[in-house]
Amino acid sequence: MAGVTKMQLLLFQLVLTSFVFLDSVDNVNAGITSSYLRKEYPAVDMPVDHEVFAAPKGYNAPQQVHMTQGNYDGNAVIISWVTVDEPGLSKLQYGTSDKKYKFTAQGKMTNYTFYEYKSGYIHHVLVDGLKFDTKYYYKIGNGDSAREFWFRTPPMIGPDVPYKFGIIGDLGQTFNSLSTLEHYMESGAECVLFLGDFSYADEYEYNDVGLRWDTFGRFAERSMAYQPWIWIIGNHEIDYLPYMNEVTLFKTYFQRYPTPHLASKSSSPDFYSVRRASAHIIALSSYSPFVKYTPQYIWLSEELERVDRTKTPWLFVLLHSPMYSSYKTHFMEGEGMRVVFEEWFVKHKVDVVFSGHVHAYERSHRFSNIRYNVSSGERYPAPDESAPIYITVGDGGNLEGLADTLIEPQPDYSAFREPSYGHSTLEIMNRTHALYTWHRNDEGKKVPVESFVLHNQYWKSKVQKRKLGKQNLGVLQQSASKGKKMT
Ligand SMILES: [Fe+2]
Repeated sequence: MAGVTKMQLLLFQLVLTSFVFLDSVDNVNAGITSSYLRKEYPAVDMPVDHEVFAAPKGYNAPQQVHMTQGNYDGNAVIISWVTVDEPGLSKLQYGTSDKKYKFTAQGKMTNYTFYEYKSGYIHHVLVDGLKFDTKYYYKIGNGDSAREFWFRTPPMIGPDVPYKFGIIGDLGQTFNSLSTLEHYMESGAECVLFLGDFSYADEYEYNDVGLRWDTFGRFAERSMAYQPWIWIIGNHEIDYLPYMNEVTLFKTYFQRYPTPHLASKSSSPDFYSVRRASAHIIALSSYSPFVKYTPQYIWLSEELERVDRTKTPWLFVLLHSPMYSSYKTHFMEGEGMRVVFEEWFVKHKVDVVFSGHVHAYERSHRFSNIRYNVSSGERYPAPDESAPIYITVGDGGNLEGLADTLIEPQPDYSAFREPSYGHSTLEIMNRTHALYTWHRNDEGKKVPVESFVLHNQYWKSKVQKRKLGKQNLGVLQQSASKGKKMT
């Protein structure tokens, strides 16, 4: 357990002891539908003059600062920001000491129009060649308007590297969104796996679409400027709005939220993967072609072969529309992708598939439906120890409100479900164990609702095989000695 202190080990042992019961929930048991009912439903966006949307003071001050991982293994970031008065420079100063910026990185600027809205000047800078496990400080902008931030690079990838991720989906920019983000920021997690549907700006019309992308950027900066968010596309990033003559798919998303897709040999920014600490994270697009012969299909088939569980034991998939959900809202929308990819996820022992889209929380048992085809086979999903757990965390808190109509009776694959706002954390301890928790946003209070120890799918089967091997060896030895006696 490299990198874990004695105190952390003790704490983890305590946690293991505390969650023995919930650990067993990991296997097949009756599903639970939470009885918690939220009393207030103010699913409205914060007004544009709310303080969280305030632009930084000063001429051409950089705003909407956000970052994502910049290469395959995590010692690079892509930092983005917007200037509004003039283009300014796409230049970033950085270093390992506060206020001492020894290095400079140069990027590029872009902008776009959406209906009659003209975006600000959007800057993207790749900062690479960084040391692992190091705090960096950075400065953007000029003179009195310059702004300073910091971030921390992850440890170098390795099988037993501890690391804590947050998981957020469908965030939006309501008062609930603010609670979710504030709760997440208390968690101590170092990187967000973001499951798509950023701003919900497409719920507005005409120029307000662009303006609401700007307000979202200023709101999310409080976290996104200080740690990378690994993001995927949701349906609210599609941008197909013919009534405004806007039909270029993912136009705003591609302009504002870059991804390091080339580092994972992907042909397009809408699907890619990164490795971080002890995790291999595959980011898919539910809204890009994925059937046989398409780039996403070919890329995923090859990327799954590149996963090396001896280096990154944990394998997570992020996709927006869940394959297994038991809410009526968006029911079966992920079915097409399930038919195409589920068999691969089982074969490669994906640990967890995280999704958003459904504005609620749900966790599945380990189930699969890969024996069925249109002419034969078992018709229903069945318990499968090699299958991933499917977790829906589409509960960030957007203006559409909660999905609170449930499929009844609760399907066998569904282990726990609750239509509330919230977020999750996943704390990897070593190659075999991680602690997962879902935190409800309980009328503004952060409440951990379910927590369990997640067993690594790949290493669990290795350990079982080793144990089985020893048992078989014992049986063989016994047989051999019996045989000797017999003869
Ligand atoms: Fe969605």
